[in-house]
Order: sequence, then C-alpha cells, then structure tokens
Amino acid sequence: MTKKRETWKSHWGMIAAMIGTAIGLGNIWRFPYLCGKYGGATFLIPYVILLLGVAMFAMMCEWVLGRHTKRDPLGAFDKIKFPFGRDIGAWGIVGPFFLYSYYIVVTSWVIFFIFASLEGLYFGKDTGWYFASFLGSKWVFLVHIAAVAITSSILAMGVQKGIERACKIMIPTLFVLLVIVAIRSVTLPGAREGIEFYMRPRWEGLLRPEIWMAALGQVFFTLSLGMGAMLIYGSYMKDEWGIPMNALSVTMGNTSASILAGFAIFPAAFALGFGNVIGGAESIGLTFIVLPKVFEVMPGGHLFGGLFFILLTFGAISSAISIQEPAIAWLADEVGWPRKKGAFFTGAVLWLMGLPFIFNGFVAGGLGMKLALLSKMDVIIGQLAIPVFGMLAIIAVGYFMGNRGFDEMNKNARIKLSHTPLKFWVRAIVPIFMAILFVLTLLKATGVIHEGEGVGFTPVGITPITIFAMAFICILFWGGFIYATARVLIIEKDKHRRRKLGLHHSR
Ligand code: TRP
Repeated sequence: MTKKRETWKSHWGMIAAMIGTAIGLGNIWRFPYLCGKYGGATFLIPYVILLLGVAMFAMMCEWVLGRHTKRDPLGAFDKIKFPFGRDIGAWGIVGPFFLYSYYIVVTSWVIFFIFASLEGLYFGKDTGWYFASFLGSKWVFLVHIAAVAITSSILAMGVQKGIERACKIMIPTLFVLLVIVAIRSVTLPGAREGIEFYMRPRWEGLLRPEIWMAALGQVFFTLSLGMGAMLIYGSYMKDEWGIPMNALSVTMGNTSASILAGFAIFPAAFALGFGNVIGGAESIGLTFIVLPKVFEVMPGGHLFGGLFFILLTFGAISSAISIQEPAIAWLADEVGWPRKKGAFFTGAVLWLMGLPFIFNGFVAGGLGMKLALLSKMDVIIGQLAIPVFGMLAIIAVGYFMGNRGFDEMNKNARIKLSHTPLKFWVRAIVPIFMAILFVLTLLKATGVIHEGEGVGFTPVGITPITIFAMAFICILFWGGFIYATARVLIIEKDKHRRRKLGLHHSR
C-alpha cells in the first residue's frame, strides 16, 4: 500500500490508547476475582514478578514487531521471515474474533448494569437470581447489539479520531471514577478487614504452582498480549518514541488500575458482610452478583453502583476496540478495504459470533449452565491461546529478528536496555519461565497435579506489615506510573526539541 500508515497523533494519546486496551474487564473483574481466590496479597507477589519480568518484555516484543514492520500481525510475521509466518500471523487476526465474541457479551452485561444500578432494579432481590433472569431476557440481546455497534463506530472513525480520541476521554474519566468508588469503599465502617485481606501475604501460598499459573495467564491477559492487539497498536507508534520507558508507563498505569479496583471491591465487600464470599466458589460472579449486593446496602449505593459500572464500561469498550482492530487493519493493509467498511463488516461477523453465548443464556437453566459456554471459552483463550501466541512474539523478536529487534527496542530510547543482558533475558529467561508454567498447566489439565482450595484467611487485625505492604505497593505502582509517564511525556519531548534545535550532543 502506498498510502501513509496512520500513527498516533500525540504521545499522551498513544499512552491513553495503550492503557485503554490494557485496562478492562481483566483489571476490574478478573484481577480482584483471582486475587480473592488466591489469598489477596499472596497473589500479588507472583503477579508483580511475572508482570515486570515476563509480560512487560512480551509487550515490548509485540511493539517491536509492529513498529519495525509497520504491518498487521499476519504481515509482520511474514515480513520478518518467521517460519510459516503468514499462518502463524493469521492467528493474530483470527484469534481476536474468539476473544471478542465473548468479551463483548460480558461488556454488554456491564452496560445493562449501569441502568440496573441507577434504577435500583436488583435492589431487594436475590442478586444471583436477578442475574440469571437477566441472562434469559431480551435485554441481553439488545445490549449486545448496542455494544458491538459502539466499538464498530469508534473504529470506523479511525486511529486518531476514533481510538485515540475515545481513549483520551474514557481513560482519565475511568481513573477519576475508580478513585471515587475506592474512597467510598475504604471509608466504610469495618473496611479494615478487607484492606488487611488484600494486603497481608500468606507466604505459604507462594509454593503453590497454580497461583503462579493463574498469575501468568493474568499478566498476559491484562496487558492485552498474545492477540495481535499490542502488535497493531505498536505499528502506529512513531519512531521517535522510546519503547522501554513507554512500556513501563503502560504497565504501571494498567496495574495501578487493578490495585485500585481491589481497594474499591475488597474493603466494601468485607465491611458489608460479604467477606466470606471472596475466595469462595461464588467469587467468579463478583461483579454481577456480589457487588450488586454491596451497592444495595451501601449508603449512596445507586450512585456508586452506577459510577462503578460506567467506569467498567469505559474500560471494557476501550479494550474491546483493540480486539476488533487487528482484523480491520488486516483488511485495510492486505485486502485494501476502507476502514469504515472493515469496521462494519467485522462488527457484523462478531455480532453473529457472540450469539451462541447469548442463546446459551436463553436455553440453559441455572446460572452455572447459562455461563457454561462463556467460561469454557475464557479458559481456552485466556489460559492457552494468549500465552502461546505471546510466546511466539517473544521468539520472533529474540531469535528471528536478530539485532534488528533489539535495536528497534532501544531506538530513540533515552534509557536504553543494554544489549547483552536484554538478549539473554528475552531469549532465555522469559521462555524458560513460560515453558515451566506451560508444563505445569499441562500437568494440571491431565490431572497429575490438582487444584487446591483457595488460600485461607483468618483476620488478625491491621498489622504494621499490612500497612507497610500497602504503602509499598501504592508507591511502586502509582509512583512508577507517574514517574514513567512524566518522564516520557516531559523529559523525552524536551530532549527531542533540543535535538532538533541542535542543542543536544550527547550521542
Ligand atoms: N487487557 C484487557 C483486559 O484486561 C483485555 C484485552 C484487550 C485483551 N485486548 C486484548 C486480552 C488482547 C488479550 C489480548 O480486560
């Protein structure tokens, strides 16, 4: 194609879009659910290690593939001459259809719950029953159409006017609303127990492999890896933006939202008497069953419930657009379709692909059965497909791009990662870590190792270690986010200006 490829318009817009794809249901539903199941702070430790040590590097590799080739996933793997590049890259186009097909269904439930909360529709009812009956109603069908239409329309408007502009509005709003809801939650009388649950690690849990496996799946899911999304978003990155610091900023920004979501959910759940549900079987229904109960008894619950589901909608929509984008980019790059046509065509296909999950809710009885198809899909995609494709991007950069890949990673970066340790890390450490966890997953799938109970919890009151852990985590993530973002936005910009003016001679 001779047409110049679109790029992000501004640096801040790029960060908003990247954080927009990353923050979504994964942060606000999946992260607290896993954290609850695996003992709060006990889960945070493997999560942070794998996030910074493995997933952040995987993200940089996807960006490198995208920016270096300036192509969609299929074209990118082909261009670097990866064996069977076109077939493997095709996963980056097709895979997201499967992820989107159910992700958007959950998104549409969230949209419905904005109204359900503001109107108090579930107040005074058994929320499990309410949710199940919602899944069998015509509303599911209608909100699903609306959700698909929203993402398709944003995407039809293009990279700068659609994706970037939408994220620049939605992401800051999301953070403000999340802070409001978190403050409400931690100031409820009796919130301490929840804070303590969330922040006090139970070290013995760290020896359990399934916690590490769950954390690996989660770090890939939360950074939107293994689906071509980050690769495509990387292909719209300008060459003058350094990759490592931007990766740190996006990783920290994404995780600060997850941590905040925990503060929004656990203290309130414990304060209002639902602590026993956290970590139990029902905790997977946290968002649509437990939280509505919490909003029902919380002072100002209509409003806070409404705000919570609005922010979750913003997170989910800004992620869903990144899942739909690779196919549109492919249709534009390789087939030559205009963006609008691609957006509405993919929208129609994706709508059809979501219908089985909706019909599952219509015909099956009982909440578990109504969700059966969707949760199976989530396991296949989340625990298998995403890490596998994520690993391929790492191998592509580590072994097939040679120095080109590592040079691209450091191109124009102010803080360069030194080549030898970086190579060693990307080529050896990251794949080894992932391979071990894959093997464990296989052993679990074949029944050789068994999943234990959730990690137990006995409240002992707030201890100094809890307070220390809380302060440390907040400083690490919010401080890291603010530092890294300020650094890339202010310092690097200044550097480029000076370089343009010929004032900078350091290299
Ligand atoms: N990261 C998003 C979340 O946490 C989900 C998501 C968006 C995603 N795009 C993706 C996950 C691509 C995997 C791959 O909700």
